[in-house]
Amino acid sequence: MLTRQAHNVCPAQRDGGHAMQSDSNPSITMRHLIDGYQVSQAIHVAARLGIADLLADGGRSVDRLATGTGTHAPTLYRLLRALASIEVLREGNDGVFELTPLGQALRSDVEGSIADWAAFVGSPGYWQAWSGLLHSVRTGENAFQHIHGADVWSYRTNRPEESALFDRAMTALSRRSSAALIAAYDFGRFRTVVDVGGGTGALLAAILGAHPGLKGTLFDQPHVVAAAGAFMERAGVADRCRIVGGSFFEGVPEAADAYVLRAVIHDWEDVDAVRILTTVRKAMAADGRVLMLERIVAPPNEGRDAKFSDLNMLVAPGGRERTREELEALLGPAGLQAAGVIDAGGFAIVEALAR
Ligand SMILES: C[S@@+](CC[C@H](N)C(=O)[O-])C[C@H]1O[C@@H](n2cnc3c(N)ncnc32)[C@H](O)[C@@H]1O
Repeated sequence: MLTRQAHNVCPAQRDGGHAMQSDSNPSITMRHLIDGYQVSQAIHVAARLGIADLLADGGRSVDRLATGTGTHAPTLYRLLRALASIEVLREGNDGVFELTPLGQALRSDVEGSIADWAAFVGSPGYWQAWSGLLHSVRTGENAFQHIHGADVWSYRTNRPEESALFDRAMTALSRRSSAALIAAYDFGRFRTVVDVGGGTGALLAAILGAHPGLKGTLFDQPHVVAAAGAFMERAGVADRCRIVGGSFFEGVPEAADAYVLRAVIHDWEDVDAVRILTTVRKAMAADGRVLMLERIVAPPNEGRDAKFSDLNMLVAPGGRERTREELEALLGPAGLQAAGVIDAGGFAIVEALAR
């Protein structure tokens, strides 16, 4: 059973003191930024244990949560009270924990759930790769390759559990941006669309769901698309969706009207990005469109998401985020030309035609 000693300071008192200190003391604010890795790992563990789903219907005691997650109750308590100190959870005076509005985002069943991203971020291969950031900055080399002796894609091919965590994380991020992308761009003008490097198909399912006249092909590595059929069935679009496994360095399905590449080009340095676009250019219909969906690197001092995603690309797959001009510069060498750039929430849609 838990001791009561940790319940004698209410969250408001703790937070008030904490906030005042941080605001007036840069070294405390800096310390919290430095210790961000502890926050990441604590949230990751809560996500792996499914804590937020267990709290979906209301508060629970640590003992019940420990039983539900198969964990050591006194130690689970230490995790949960730390998460309550940063407002992910709320700890009641009766030793019961409940979700805060912030913590709700860790439920798997809510719109905009970020649970699968949290579950992936602390996974061994990815977490360890970030310890190679200093090596990357010193040498310009990819940290993942340096730490693991393999690139992310071959590493995951041999580790189905980590690969599935990554695919689910991509699906979670894709779902969060799909509505904005579909609202911003009229996919209904096409008859056929190929989602190149489309993961397990979240974006393509959303596009097909929004446009009943459209047919789609999901293209990704064979082990990634292996589970996509069931996903498309559940989304109710399986009868209009073909699933093809392969490598976009060798070829992609031919003669479609539109080729979508969401968060694919940023995984690669320019030489390989141009190779992928060249493969697509060779496959597409003469009047086809290529749609690169990417974050755009903002001017100085703005745009945290793209700039930290850029570090993530440096560390993990070995690519980069780009400015609009840098993305457009990839098109010419691949036999493409820019047709326009459309803002779609946190992403830009760079539309290209054959030259
Ligand atoms: C960052 S993920 C993006 C996934 C998806 N487009 C999304 O937005 O959720 C990049 C995708 O590229 C795929 N990929 C990597 N190398 C590939 C290759 N050689 N051929 C085909 N797909 C590949 C990965 O399997 C992964 O699904």
